[in-house]
Amino acid sequence: MVLEQAEQAPIPKTGTQKADQTPDQKIEKRAAELRSQLQKASYAYYVLDAPDLPDSVYDRLYRELQDLEEQYPALQTADSPTQRVGAEPAEQFTSVRHNIPLYSLENAFDTEEYLDWQARWQRLEPDVGEATAVTELKIDGNALALTYENGMLTRGVTRGDGVVGEDITQNVRTIRTIPLRLHTEAGQTPPPIVEVRGEAFLPLDVFDDINQKREAEGTALFANPRNAAAGTLRQLDAKVVAERRLDFFAYTVLMPAGSGDFSAPTDQWAALEFLQTLGFRVNPNRKRCQSATEVASYYDEWEEKRHDLPYLTDGVVVKLNSFELQDRLGFTNKFPRWAIALKYPAEEVPTILNDVTVQVGRTGAITPVAELNPVQLAGTTVSRATLHNADRLAELDLHLGDTVIVRKAGEIIPEVVRVLPTLRPTDAIAYQLPANCPVCGQPVVKPEGEAVTRCVNQSCRAILSGSLRHWASRDALDISGLGERLVQSWIDQSVVSSIADLYDLTLEDLLPLERMGKQLANKLLQAIALSKQRPWPKVLYGLGIRLVGSTNAQILADSFPSAAALAAADESAIAQIYGIGPEIAQSVRQWFQLPANQELIARLQAAGLQLAATTQPASQQTQPLAGKSFVLTGTLPTLKRAEAKAQIQAAGGRVSGSVSTKTDYVVVGENAGSKQAKADELGLTQISEAELIELLKDS
Ligand code: IVH
Repeated sequence: MVLEQAEQAPIPKTGTQKADQTPDQKIEKRAAELRSQLQKASYAYYVLDAPDLPDSVYDRLYRELQDLEEQYPALQTADSPTQRVGAEPAEQFTSVRHNIPLYSLENAFDTEEYLDWQARWQRLEPDVGEATAVTELKIDGNALALTYENGMLTRGVTRGDGVVGEDITQNVRTIRTIPLRLHTEAGQTPPPIVEVRGEAFLPLDVFDDINQKREAEGTALFANPRNAAAGTLRQLDAKVVAERRLDFFAYTVLMPAGSGDFSAPTDQWAALEFLQTLGFRVNPNRKRCQSATEVASYYDEWEEKRHDLPYLTDGVVVKLNSFELQDRLGFTNKFPRWAIALKYPAEEVPTILNDVTVQVGRTGAITPVAELNPVQLAGTTVSRATLHNADRLAELDLHLGDTVIVRKAGEIIPEVVRVLPTLRPTDAIAYQLPANCPVCGQPVVKPEGEAVTRCVNQSCRAILSGSLRHWASRDALDISGLGERLVQSWIDQSVVSSIADLYDLTLEDLLPLERMGKQLANKLLQAIALSKQRPWPKVLYGLGIRLVGSTNAQILADSFPSAAALAAADESAIAQIYGIGPEIAQSVRQWFQLPANQELIARLQAAGLQLAATTQPASQQTQPLAGKSFVLTGTLPTLKRAEAKAQIQAAGGRVSGSVSTKTDYVVVGENAGSKQAKADELGLTQISEAELIELLKDS
């Protein structure tokens, strides 16, 4: 649910308020009402996927409840929607023994193996024949066991080894599709104890987002959504878990036969429906099958269709429907005899590693790529696969000529999962990542404790486009007009090969370029020139040093008033600054040590950029024209149009091309035309160049 700014319209308070209620009772009642309204809305949004309240209304109700709970902490209940992420990060998880073990499933890989399984259980129950079976998708996630006591979620435990798991209740509470309180009809007493089991998983889009973020941060990528979900469930900080949007499908409910107002379901089909009425998300793609043929066609149908789902599945699960029959069949020491997983063919194949090449990403991350003998894998020909990073490479201990196993899961790019060392040619050479960037030749760096190796040369062609765009961005050097397309075309045409080259550009350099008129070229040159006035912290941020975002840049600039001072500082001195840790210090150090970056600094210095703090910190510099809008018209006596514009902008003003009621000043020069007429018409303040210079003086 997107949290928006609250709207102003009051929300009518629903529910009757009896006159004889004390204020406390009234408030208590209101809190209960809010909890229930919010729970219903959240269920409609997350589980039913059918929102029934506008976000803004939800947010107002949520805030009202939050305010009440803050004022009267006694009102805070464990199932309150405000309590999904509450507690402090855990120190570690405690191991807990499952009341009933979580068995795993026997696998079958084709219809024949399925029929073998069927024949085996039928031998034990010869009178049954072809029993009704429920087929469900096998979600590729992590099994969880959830305990509800008197309707309230009290415990969430991972599968672990099936006998002992980890108590991750705090994290489970952040999963929106897991109810904190079981849904029951008004007046119904919830069953005293229920255990619900199901699969926690990460939707594919969330998985992609997480890995993209990790790539940008330089953290090791998760190999697949299941690992990412497992890693997330074991996060000590529930806030991080909440951000990762885990989801959950319930498939098992365990409760004593006599459970108050509820009778336990007697077959799997009813159990799934019951789970749904209790407020859980249950996978809709389930089916009741009367024969092995029906099971086979369900399996075939989903072999293709599963690739259109927003989450990964790795097979189908077939469960005999009747619980009575399930009980009679029981378990082997590992598996239930009444269920089987029909898996899809492994999307892993062996092939030969011919070579390893190295790619340099826009953030400088060096990714080794396996060059393979082409193989058919999950319907496509694969000849390259990612090896992720140096750590992964070291783990695999790759030798050229090795036989490797390549995997492709769903939408994910193929990867090398393991090597078969017994098949290694005797003279095979171990592969080592190069010590220098293959694009620019500068030494690469691998910060301690990190998986990713990087090129940190800001002028490396591979990372140039990313670094130029960052340099030009609003919070950095703020070069308006220098966007992604332009940056890329300048790099492609070798107009620039370093940030510093921007400051050597002339009109003659730009005019021959495609789609570059004189006006645009001038505008860009002006914007570039203007960036020379951006203060030192912005320049430092613009350099794009890893881990130095705008806040850290400001902190560093406060302690090191110039690039020279920062370049000369030793790592421990940098690390000692409040808010800067050893990791950042190391990254800064490595950046300044690189000769190519030293040259960049020297050239920027020569070009007149602010590589040192001015006597007045930027924040205190006066901006006399802040918020004022100017239009320039006619020829000014001394200032060129571009100069006047630059000076107005430096003083915080805006310069617009057209006159409107929002214009504060029209600066009028000789031969002013229609703009002056419009200014007359609107009664705007008109000033001369001399008056403009007067206004600028305070800056
Ligand atoms: S039933 C005894 N149903 O697959 C019953 N499991 O390989 C065992 N899984 O540990 C579980 N989707 O983590 C069941 N619809 C589904 C499932 C499912 C995924 C997982 C579960 C289990 C593993 C066995």
